[in-house]
Amino acid sequence: MTGLRVRAPQVGEGDKIVPLWRNLWDLHEAWGSYPGTQDAAVYRALARRIDDESALRRGFPLLRRSGENGGHIHLIAERDGEIVGQVEGWVEANGVDPRTPITCEIRSLIVAETVRGGGVGHALLEELAAVAGTVAPRIFAVAEVLAENPFRPFYRREGYAPVGWTLRYAPVSAETPEILIGAREETARRTIQTKLHVRRARASDGFSAALLETVLAMRRRAVRDLRFDPPRTPDAAQIDALSTYLAARERLSEAAPPLDWIVEDAHGVRGQGTFALLPLEAPFLTGQRAVLGRIAFDPAGDPAILLPPLLARAAERAHAFGAKWLELCDFSAPGTPLYEAARALGATPWSSVMGKRVC
Ligand SMILES: CC(C)(COP(=O)(O)OP(=O)(O)OC[C@H]1O[C@@H](n2cnc3c(N)ncnc32)[C@H](O)[C@@H]1OP(=O)(O)O)[C@@H](O)C(=O)NCCC(=O)NCCS
Repeated sequence: MTGLRVRAPQVGEGDKIVPLWRNLWDLHEAWGSYPGTQDAAVYRALARRIDDESALRRGFPLLRRSGENGGHIHLIAERDGEIVGQVEGWVEANGVDPRTPITCEIRSLIVAETVRGGGVGHALLEELAAVAGTVAPRIFAVAEVLAENPFRPFYRREGYAPVGWTLRYAPVSAETPEILIGAREETARRTIQTKLHVRRARASDGFSAALLETVLAMRRRAVRDLRFDPPRTPDAAQIDALSTYLAARERLSEAAPPLDWIVEDAHGVRGQGTFALLPLEAPFLTGQRAVLGRIAFDPAGDPAILLPPLLARAAERAHAFGAKWLELCDFSAPGTPLYEAARALGATPWSSVMGKRVC
């Protein structure tokens, strides 16, 4: 496309960028995501924030604090003096292994309707990869794409492949935990109710947690999700580190997630999951996202048996915190036992994470 320039936003351009953002929020809401605000004052505040950040950027797309191994990238596409697209990238390390690439999370990519299909989206992603590459030599870029987004094929076309899946359980109500447990057939229900229980993880779970982390890492690597460290054989140092970590997390109140849970039966630990609450910030309508992640089960166990009590506990917490629905993230692909166990319990496809090594 001629006359196209991709660059950092400048002070005073916030007002011109915000309509794109608003369009994106309206689209996401139409595709079943959390509702955005229609309050003009919120968008004016957003424009001011973009301008404040632009002042700090001084023409550079990457904003980072000194010593930080990451940062926030903001790029706009300009053609004939008009802003026709934007993208953000959050660059951060998700692992500690030096072989693990740094993640660049692509957010709020949008191109003005009038110029879609003309190469602007491609140009924004290219430049985003180039800027992220100044932070670290190896970058894994990811974008979360809603199942209902009709533009999903764009990422495939750009060479991205699915590396993670999220399902949604909605709505959550006071009855949901009972429904989830009751959804099992008679034999399975007896198994769950008499033998399986969910409890908070504690320091003494360090060894089990290390084994389950390996299961989780293997699942991620099997689909080439390079955001996280490769699987490792648990060793004394890792078990010790996990025990210390769990000891600290154990002290958090039930009222202050994140909460690490263990699924246990008469024979011992069979699985894990972490429940987190994430605030929804403007321009979303304010509220809470309830998320259940880091799920890993004993490979000898059946997710159809192990998942319901974990889900029931998460649904109970989600309801207690006033969340409208529960997101089940970091899942394996459709067709796998874990994914299908969640589907059988009534969870619906919500999004997939598309990933690509960009350098
Ligand atoms: C998705 C979006 C950013 C793509 O930007 P764009 O400028 O239209 O895309 P480009 O013209 O650079 O397309 C790059 C490639 O993807 C292909 N492509 C773009 N949109 C596509 C679509 N909807 N279906 C299939 N292929 C598509 C193009 O044909 C092109 O392939 P080619 O090089 O082989 O011709 C834009 O359509 C958009 O703003 N959509 C609404 C918001 C949105 O969905 N954002 C992403 C949220 S995760």
